[in-house]
Amino acid sequence: MAENQVALITGGGSGIGAAVARQLLDAGYRVAVTGRGKERLDAFAQELGRPEGLLTVPGDTAVYDDVRAAVGATLGKFGRLDAVVANAGFATHDTVAEGDPAGWPDMVLTNVLGPALLIRASIDALKETRGRIVLVGSVAGFVPSPGNIYGATKWAVTGLAENTRRQVTEWGVGVTLIAPGRTETPFWDTYGSLPPGHLLTAGQIADSVVWAMRQPAGVDVNTVVVRPVGQPV
Ligand SMILES: NC(=O)c1ccc[n+]([C@@H]2O[C@H](COP(=O)([O-])OP(=O)(O)OC[C@H]3O[C@@H](n4cnc5c(N)ncnc54)[C@H](OP(=O)(O)O)[C@@H]3O)[C@@H](O)[C@H]2O)c1
Repeated sequence: MAENQVALITGGGSGIGAAVARQLLDAGYRVAVTGRGKERLDAFAQELGRPEGLLTVPGDTAVYDDVRAAVGATLGKFGRLDAVVANAGFATHDTVAEGDPAGWPDMVLTNVLGPALLIRASIDALKETRGRIVLVGSVAGFVPSPGNIYGATKWAVTGLAENTRRQVTEWGVGVTLIAPGRTETPFWDTYGSLPPGHLLTAGQIADSVVWAMRQPAGVDVNTVVVRPVGQPV
């Protein structure tokens, strides 16, 4: 039952991760959220009224000790783990031929290594609950776009999701890749403006994440691509 379930969401203090956390808390889950910025996590907890079922764990998803500590803190407080959502990620919004390589290591480590570390750190606990792994990829992980380094990290996430599924399905663990199109979140702050056209809300992507997570035992939704109407590629 959802009342007993526990989820850990990386990058859960804003945007899509925060929207997933809200919906899961409303559904009776207990939820741990991570992020590098302690203030951001505190502000999120404050906004929600510091509910009993919410644990905030500052940490970098690209650092294995931090990820293991987040899994350990979640198990320590809530006693079990039913789902992890590898959501933390960002874009430098530049290109391979004209961008600034100084920004790329953090992006690659966060977007690609981060989900792998979360899977590695949580798999034993997820085996016990026959739980679920959700990876937040991107439409940019399905569609080539000129020079897009961020997109290349999300192609890696697309591959990681299916490679993981093929290993962990025999242990009863589900793997879902949610690939959002353009969504209105702080993701775009470093771009300087929102992209043109109609955008999804974080809540609309969270709807898909939570829908996939709440499938009956034995049902594994694998790939969901969600674009706003009007996004051509
Ligand atoms: N918005 C879109 O249009 C869109 C489209 C497709 C896919 N996505 C993907 O959706 C996911 C969520 O992004 P969002 O749109 O919700 O943007 P967001 O509001 O900026 O959320 C990203 C979260 O990840 C955290 N984060 C970043 N790097 C981290 C790290 N190394 N370790 C731990 N936490 C980290 C950030 O907090 P701190 O900075 O405090 O750590 C932030 O709370 C990302 O994977 C993004 O690539 C977004």
